[in-house]
Amino acid sequence: MLLIKNGTVITPSGSCSRRLWADGGKIIPEPSNPVNVSEYDASGCLVFPGFIDAHTHFETRTGETETADSFKTGTAAALAGGTTTVLDFATQEKGETLRAALEARLEKACGSCSCDYGFHMAVTDWNAKTKADIRKTADMGISSFKAYMAYDALRISPVDLRELFYECRDIGYVGVHCELGDEVNANIKKLLSTGKTGPRYHPVSRPNEVESLAVRECLIAARETGAKVWIVHLSTAESLEEIKKAREAGSKALVETCPQYLTLTDELYDLQGFEGAKYVCSPPLRGKKDVFALKGALQSGDVDIVSTDHCSFNFRGQKELGKNDFSKIPNGLPGTEHRPALIWTCGVCAGIVTAERTAALLSENPARAFNMYPRKGALLPGSDADVVIWDPGYEGVITAGKQTQNTDYTPWEGFRVKGRAKAVILGGEICAEDGSVIKKERGKYISR
Ligand code: URP
Ligand code: ZN
Ligand code: ZN
Repeated sequence: MLLIKNGTVITPSGSCSRRLWADGGKIIPEPSNPVNVSEYDASGCLVFPGFIDAHTHFETRTGETETADSFKTGTAAALAGGTTTVLDFATQEKGETLRAALEARLEKACGSCSCDYGFHMAVTDWNAKTKADIRKTADMGISSFKAYMAYDALRISPVDLRELFYECRDIGYVGVHCELGDEVNANIKKLLSTGKTGPRYHPVSRPNEVESLAVRECLIAARETGAKVWIVHLSTAESLEEIKKAREAGSKALVETCPQYLTLTDELYDLQGFEGAKYVCSPPLRGKKDVFALKGALQSGDVDIVSTDHCSFNFRGQKELGKNDFSKIPNGLPGTEHRPALIWTCGVCAGIVTAERTAALLSENPARAFNMYPRKGALLPGSDADVVIWDPGYEGVITAGKQTQNTDYTPWEGFRVKGRAKAVILGGEICAEDGSVIKKERGKYISR
């Protein structure tokens, strides 16, 4: 039996000093006859429900290479930073069934994960069989889906997107990567043909309107089909305007952004030599006005969840694949380890969000959206005993040399942060302390 005492428990609806009890992997009510109790003194700390990262890509093949983080290293990094559940993707290959895609991912992840894990189903081949299998996929515990409007190997047509939306309308959210693929392809071709091959042309090929027009299309399709749509990794002020208009007209779209869009800007693509490649992700980093607008949306409540889109590649040997052609730089950044500290520093310490809202953005909202609440995202009797003991007084500097994630750099090298997970409790056991994992590979699959 575990007793967490002297901490302030934070939930979206309020905070209070209370004792928290756990037994058998679950939160329990205060026992009348506690036995075999180990106590954790959380004096000076905040006690959060375990954080959830609803958007990661671990052990994933993209084009010519595979992500640097496997399930083993990626989930360990997540846990070290305070994340107790990740939702990754089972991505259907062309010609593959949804069941086969899921089974392949379950096999890869099983026994390797240091935090709990689940999957969204990314649909890349819409056909009669896929359509018939949507409901079966939900019966297998996958109640959320994903579609891409860009990336030739992954995207589905606007017509197929609508059919997918319609089929999923009473099952759960469909996440959409909103970028107009044809525009991106045309821009890349034009830039390369005029010798513009360096990383600084990556954002030029994917300007703000490539995202915001895709968001508009996606919201229209969602409205017409009655789908529950989740706009993943939203990055621009213009897209936020589309969201606001749609919400005024009754849209219930779920909006996700990521720490990179809240803390980094597109000037990084102008760094010396090939350094800008470290920041190549899609959508790309944006300008200061976008960062400002996203922070405003975090404050106003227009952003519902902050995930990471963790999709990591080493600079040496992987990002370098695009040395002579920015379109060949593997897209994606590492981020799952540092998300809580980045949001605490740039959100709470900057006065943009409260600790309670942080609990909503990083835990309760994704738990509710993805059918895990109150097992996850809450500290109620019966909830999984996933708890973050957060030390708000900690000050430190992010550096690749000290990280758990398996990359040779971090986009936040030298970034000063406040706050960190002093202890991370998974299923009632302390599994990480002071940024290091002490008990590995205890993660369970979460059927949703
Ligand atoms: O650049 C990114 N975001 N890579 C990961 C795949 C995706 O688009 O979500
Ligand atoms: Zn994406
Ligand atoms: Zn992604």
